[in-house]
Amino acid sequence: MKRSAWRVVTLIVLLVVAGIGIYAYRVIRRGFSTREEPGAMEAALATSARSMAIPARYKSMKNPVTATPEVIREGMEHWADHCATCHANNGSGDTMYGKAMYPRPPDMRRDRTQNLSDGELYSIIQNGVRLTGMPAFGDAGDDDIDSWKLVVFIRHLPTLTDREQMEMEKLNPKSPREMQEEMEEEQFLNGGKPSMPSMTPHTHH
Ligand code: HEC
Repeated sequence: MKRSAWRVVTLIVLLVVAGIGIYAYRVIRRGFSTREEPGAMEAALATSARSMAIPARYKSMKNPVTATPEVIREGMEHWADHCATCHANNGSGDTMYGKAMYPRPPDMRRDRTQNLSDGELYSIIQNGVRLTGMPAFGDAGDDDIDSWKLVVFIRHLPTLTDREQMEMEKLNPKSPREMQEEMEEEQFLNGGKPSMPSMTPHTHH
């Protein structure tokens, strides 16, 4: 290589090293907590993690299931049970877990999610998004009907009704503490008698 070319290469290397240095300094100063709002650079990296995670062949895939009321209902039940912990019943991502992670689960009613193709949504559900808290749920096939039903439900999120949300609350998984509270409440209403079979004292005759 010519001398002048070497000079250009050296300059580029120095600039890159300086850039990394400045970025590292800012990250260290600010800390790496997931609670703070991320900088533009971090946000860009996380969004590209999402698009890199989607294999090209998924983009044009068509949803084999039709959005009938039954399919929406099944997707809704599945969502309430498996997805709402992080994404909330209405898809806003406004949950205890969702708010504590970065990248945060996005508001799925908005364009960022709704503009993805059905195949891209399917791919995310099947394969997860690497470098984020979004887990993979699929059995790694192209015809996981349950995942396609979830895609239908995601399309339904922007028009979810209050009534549907109330139904979903009943389907949300309960923590052991909530179960205990509910049991105690019931016991109280029953006049102090234990209502769970396992708590009924055995009587010997
Ligand atoms: C442990 C928490 C968690 C659970 C449970 C979870 N997700 Fe996610 N999900 C995330 C996070 C975090 C992201 C954001 C990833 C990113 O920034 O690229 C995400 C992103 C997504 C996206 C992409 C949205 C977008 O605009 O990039 C889809 C689709 C999705 N999740 C569907 C689901 C479905 C369907 C379920 C249930 C079967 C589910 N998720 C369960 C945490 C979760």
